[in-house]
Amino acid sequence: MSEILKVNNVTKFYGKQRVLNGVDLSINQGEIIGLVGPNGAGKTTLMKIITGLIPKYEGQVFIDSRNIKDRKHLKTKEIGCVIEVPGFYPELTGYENLLFFAEISGLKDKSEINEIVKSLGIEDYVNKKVKKYSLGMKQRLGVAQAVLTYPPVLILDEPTNGLDPAIVPQLRKFIKHIAKEKNTAVLISSHILSEIELMCDKVVFIQKGEIIKVENLEQEGKSSSKVAFVTSKLDKLEQFFNTKNISHQVTSKEELQAEVDIKELEDLILSISKADIPLRSVHEVKESLEEKYLKTMGE
Ligand SMILES: Nc1ncnc2c1ncn2[C@@H]1O[C@H](COP(=O)(O)OP(=O)(O)OP(=O)(O)O)[C@@H](O)[C@H]1O
Ligand SMILES: [Mg+2]
Repeated sequence: MSEILKVNNVTKFYGKQRVLNGVDLSINQGEIIGLVGPNGAGKTTLMKIITGLIPKYEGQVFIDSRNIKDRKHLKTKEIGCVIEVPGFYPELTGYENLLFFAEISGLKDKSEINEIVKSLGIEDYVNKKVKKYSLGMKQRLGVAQAVLTYPPVLILDEPTNGLDPAIVPQLRKFIKHIAKEKNTAVLISSHILSEIELMCDKVVFIQKGEIIKVENLEQEGKSSSKVAFVTSKLDKLEQFFNTKNISHQVTSKEELQAEVDIKELEDLILSISKADIPLRSVHEVKESLEEKYLKTMGE
């Protein structure tokens, strides 16, 4: 996987207020990165800089190793974005808007439009005039427009904002699909952390204009896991872990947790039973993104 987007030491001032401070970010082709942080952290500002909507800033942004300030060709081909409420021609239908955009972007194969309209599930209303659209309808049309030319980089600022929860899984599936099939790099912001957790490979935490943490969500290749053991005989279980030299934490009066090699878990449970220690439950403990967020932002 090669790097497609690089943000290098970007700082942005609005007047005297510094809203971004030395931001570095790198995204590979096909990678989906979540951008999370409190209101006013600088997410939209960063996304606007990457898409060229804010031309004045310190530092550099490279797409495919080219500084975006040096690009002479149409930027619509390189980067697709939905930032805030997308602008459309209200008197045209959704389809006509897409067609218009396809034409100015030089898209040859118009059948792609129908394919995207179908996978986003907007065919029911794509022939209605945009002025009659609800917020969520516009939002989805915005995503269609952003991916129309299959740009190598896709920037989505709160794309699920205002969307009916029944639609969200479809949008998520669509975004994952284009990341995988078209090798698109996606940077997506949202306050709905469960959404980010389901969709992203990595999460970038931003606070007061600074990236304070990058967390890998991909679990592949992970061999050990935190496991909770629940028993009414906690004393005996603790003793057992002590004699086996397995480090652990007691988390309640009937539970302890330990980092365990998954391949060895079955044998461990067997030997606990052989030691006459009854187990009521053994389960993997996963920290949710919300818990990670609260920890990270609280520090
Ligand atoms: N046009 C502007 N002029 C002056 N200050 C601005 C402007 N746009 C944003 N800001 C300020 O920059 C900071 C970052 O705003 P930004 O919109 O990037 O935050 P955000 O992380 O997207 O927040 P939210 O989660 O609420 O969307 C805020 O303090 C905001 O007040
Ligand atoms: Mg924002």
